[in-house]
Amino acid sequence: MKTMWSPGKLWNKCRINMAAHRSRGAGFFRTLLSRCRTPGPGLCQQQHRCCLSSVPAPPTPPPGTWSHQLSRLSHRDLYRLSLTDPDRFWGSAAADRLRWVKPFERVRDCELSSGKISWFLGGKLNVSVNCLDVHVEKHPERVALIWERDEPGTEVKVTYRELLETTCRLANTLKSHGIQKGDRVAIYMPVSPLAVAAMLACARIGAVHTVVFAGFSSEALAGRIQDAQCKAVLTCNQGVRGGRLVHLKATVDAAVKTCPSVQHVFVSQRTEQPAVMGERDVSLEEVMSHHASVCPPEPLDSEDFLFLLYTSGSTGKPKGIVHTQAGYLLYTSLTHQYVFDYRDGDVFGCMADVGWITGHSYVVYGPLCNGATTVLFESTPVYPDPGRYWETVERLRITQFYGAPTALRLLLKYDESWVKKYDRSSLRTLGSVGEPINHEAWHWFHSVVGDGRCPLVDTWWQTETGGVCIAPRPAEEGAPIVPAMAMRPFFGIQPVLMGEEGEALSGDSVSGALCISQPWPGMARSIYGDHQRFIDAYFKPFPGHYFTGDGAYRSEDGYYQITGRMDDVINVSGHRLGTAEIEDALDEHPAVPETAVIGIPHDIKGEVPFAFVVLKEDVGDAPPVILQQLRDLVTTKIAKYAVPEHFLVVKRLPKTRSGKIMRRILRKVVMETTGDLGDVSTLDDPSVVKEIIEAHELYRKEKKK
Ligand code: WTA
Repeated sequence: MKTMWSPGKLWNKCRINMAAHRSRGAGFFRTLLSRCRTPGPGLCQQQHRCCLSSVPAPPTPPPGTWSHQLSRLSHRDLYRLSLTDPDRFWGSAAADRLRWVKPFERVRDCELSSGKISWFLGGKLNVSVNCLDVHVEKHPERVALIWERDEPGTEVKVTYRELLETTCRLANTLKSHGIQKGDRVAIYMPVSPLAVAAMLACARIGAVHTVVFAGFSSEALAGRIQDAQCKAVLTCNQGVRGGRLVHLKATVDAAVKTCPSVQHVFVSQRTEQPAVMGERDVSLEEVMSHHASVCPPEPLDSEDFLFLLYTSGSTGKPKGIVHTQAGYLLYTSLTHQYVFDYRDGDVFGCMADVGWITGHSYVVYGPLCNGATTVLFESTPVYPDPGRYWETVERLRITQFYGAPTALRLLLKYDESWVKKYDRSSLRTLGSVGEPINHEAWHWFHSVVGDGRCPLVDTWWQTETGGVCIAPRPAEEGAPIVPAMAMRPFFGIQPVLMGEEGEALSGDSVSGALCISQPWPGMARSIYGDHQRFIDAYFKPFPGHYFTGDGAYRSEDGYYQITGRMDDVINVSGHRLGTAEIEDALDEHPAVPETAVIGIPHDIKGEVPFAFVVLKEDVGDAPPVILQQLRDLVTTKIAKYAVPEHFLVVKRLPKTRSGKIMRRILRKVVMETTGDLGDVSTLDDPSVVKEIIEAHELYRKEKKK
């Protein structure tokens, strides 16, 4: 068995195999095509009782493929190999699973302490080729995307051939407007085939996309465009969500006023309403129709930038996390297959928006690299009613359903009949992401939605990790899944828990700062324009390790349980927000000298921001007027979801003698655990605590009225 893993042997073999595939030519593919299974109905083959049962072995893959090599090793051996010989493990995977224009010469060159991370050096490839062309060669009419539009029953299917053509037309459009390799392009679009084509068109020509969630305000969008110096923006006239119209073009118009780098705004028509077009605006559908549906792919270095995605940190402005070509693609495709037990013919349903990393990795890149049919969900879990998800599962015969705990917590409040009246027998794997899943939501998802028969994977990962790092699957056959726990590290992931002195904690039943001690191909490479911030944020706290910002507990069985953020990042409905960002927005109000924002638990959203506000003494307006102005400020500076749920006006904030706000005390006041305030010896004036407790008491009484 060992000899099979000799890298030289495998790589040679793989290249020969690829050459063989190519030389067989179109005839071979036509034969394949006639046998190709189009996605569609297919009963779940899992007839076991619940997630504790074993996962049935997937059909034997063809010899010479990575999966074939994998199927011969036990999961334990594979995991061990991924840590002890990462070059061999990742080298074989990359050579076999990706199509290269030029094979790579070296698997990796990484030094975590200096933030140097390079994978598959010397190799050249194109991500859009791996996500489109390779599948069009084999099964052009397979459905790549099912666009589940806002109105139920109006879904649109897009085949791999059609998606390639659209991508090429869009790529040619971008090129003809001066967009070149390395240029940054902002995408401010809701989930739609054109948004996916826009991402892939950038990948085709080597432009770097930065998708901005279409719920962000014009100022937030402008900040990202300015930071990335984007040359173009792609948007829609309007978005449609939950039956409501969102005026995207108007938001872009406001944003680009302060963005001189933007030369063109490409506008797609999602609704009938014509957009008001200005000088920089280009009608996307119209101009695309004049361009060819073929566009030669740009051969790109493994480490050329693929995309930037802005995310919140504990301090400062959102940071543009950089992901590159080969490592990211390989990691998303491998995790997509193994964590979710993806098989040919499945309909993969990830409910995330393309504006977040989950949408990038598990709506677009992972599934498309694996030739899957992937669902683009434009609507909300409660539109037109709380049965929407399950009606969609029945209609589209979804096999994997990947969603956020916040949506599950909302849905479980409704009657079970909203789930039960729809046929969910197509489901094989359930997944949860974005925030800790509580036991109630986990059990409801598992037993009501999954009828107790589908493995439910709680997947832990981050924008920075590129793909899932800790999840119950893959695992040995029959391995248990512990409810509400991420459990097992993925191949190549070596979690380490650190103690307060920066020491690695050994043994089980311990809690600490969650770090990862070996590089993996999917990890972020930098923060755009600020590599030092990248090093400081992730590699300085525990030298030689990647620090996640999360805390975790290793159970007595050696499984990982995420305990939450250790910094000032909060998670509102699965969306990451820095409390400092909200404070910055609030502090712009002239009547507000200072604020402190903390996250407090919320039974549906997970967490919500709670703002403590100090007002100037001589403010003209009444506090309620100012508070409304503060809400508006956060909406225009960031987004609606960032608006604090609570505002408490206080005279002073608790500070240390050196002037640092002690948020820990504010948390205790709100959680009413002031009996145990901990060490308050560093407080400048302890009487402030009493003041805040009293103000909070009053606030609570007012709220109850
Ligand atoms: C949190 C989302 C507990 C965590 C993919 C992390 C989770 C942050 C889980 C990243 C989970 C994500 N259990 N917490 N299964 N998944 N988180 O960058 O705090 O939007 O650091 O990536 O979400 O959020 P991000």
